[in-house]
Amino acid sequence: MDQSTRDPGSPGLLDLPMPKPAECPFGPAPEFARLRAEAPVTRVACPTGVTAWLVTRYADVREVLGDSERFSSRSGQVAHLMAHADPGRPVGEGEFTRMDGADYQRFRRHIGPEVSAPKRLAALRPAVQKVIDERLDALAAAGPPADLYWDFAIPVTTAAIGGLVGVPYADRELFHKAAAAVFTGTTSQAELATALQPLYQYLFGLVQRRRAEPGDDALSRMIARGDASDEPFTDFELVAMSAVMLVAGFDNTATVLAHGVLALLGDPGQLARLRSAPELVPAAVEEMVRLLGGAAGITRQAAEDTTIGGRPVAKGDLVLVAIQAADHDPSMFPNPERLDLDRRTDGHLGFGYGTHQCFGQQTARIELALALETLLRRVPSLALAVPFEEIPFKTDTAVIGPERVPVTWDEILPAGEAAR
Ligand code: HEM
Repeated sequence: MDQSTRDPGSPGLLDLPMPKPAECPFGPAPEFARLRAEAPVTRVACPTGVTAWLVTRYADVREVLGDSERFSSRSGQVAHLMAHADPGRPVGEGEFTRMDGADYQRFRRHIGPEVSAPKRLAALRPAVQKVIDERLDALAAAGPPADLYWDFAIPVTTAAIGGLVGVPYADRELFHKAAAAVFTGTTSQAELATALQPLYQYLFGLVQRRRAEPGDDALSRMIARGDASDEPFTDFELVAMSAVMLVAGFDNTATVLAHGVLALLGDPGQLARLRSAPELVPAAVEEMVRLLGGAAGITRQAAEDTTIGGRPVAKGDLVLVAIQAADHDPSMFPNPERLDLDRRTDGHLGFGYGTHQCFGQQTARIELALALETLLRRVPSLALAVPFEEIPFKTDTAVIGPERVPVTWDEILPAGEAAR
């Protein structure tokens, strides 16, 4: 059956298992383990009213993400969760996340270098370190307690993506509000359009200014690269591209950081090991993304009649890949629920896999590693300020994680004095 538009759901179908942070704060709902063992490709009714094939085994999830010819991105990534993300809606101008093939590559080719070229990453490092140190100085001046998510992680990742695209920190409200609308499950299409309007208007002005006077930022370089190609970007495409970068580029990283530090604070053995061996920070980052990334899952759409894990799937059917469940598949990652700094994380799917794999993964790795290393070094007494059970979690969103992480400390060492 073609699932390209919303249907009223099918009574009697399994409801999509939703995150249950109170039961398992760092892993998928327990039903996912049962499904992986007993019904690894199964039909579910999603909260948005669509039905989809839920895929929970590592090998199957990787196969779907890795084959963009059989599994199109046309439905958008969150058709199962967000009321505004009707999989049947037309693809908007510049909405590259829902494109396939050559249409998609036209965008990826020009955005990719901005967020993954060694030169860009080298320039990002000192800028991110500066923001991290400034935020810790501000926390030291204000004194404990503070919210690690809103007072540290969000400002750091916001400044990083804003700086990268070329949007000053003072203008962050524009993309914060847009992101809140994009990632909230109940936002309607009309509400989304209203929420995006100020950001689009602002970015339209920025595109005009950068066309007239290019700066040292991603937007200026994307304009130049597009202009030098056979098919230059329209202003609207440039606005849409920048908007996606800004909206997708801060909360995911901030949430993994706050959620990951929460996991570490809850595991004194692993925390002590990391404190005594800071060279393990990159491994810790990778393990946090494996443990926590992709918790909301991603939708694809079958482009032809096919099979997944031996189950027939019809052209047009929606396929929901449970990335976090795949990364908790014990056949791939033994004792998957455990944050284990010494495990092999190669092949984890936390940043996705295949054609649409996360654009920003290298920048996210840099932000997470610098933030984690600096927190451990400058705040040796970092601790939760409330009992673990009192941490609230975001659930009605595509960016699942703690809503707040209240923390306290005895002392925040000055940046210069905390030896590296
Ligand atoms: C820890 C942080 C992050 C995680 C866990 C994460 C996860 C993901 C995943 C799983 C996808 C795949 C979507 C798909 O296959 O349809 C994705 C795509 C994407 N990510 Fe990230 N991401 C993170 C950080 C970032 C950052 C910092 C940026 C911006 C610099 C970014 C920009 C994007 C964009 C633009 C896409 C869409 C790619 C496409 O559809 O082609 N992400 N991300």
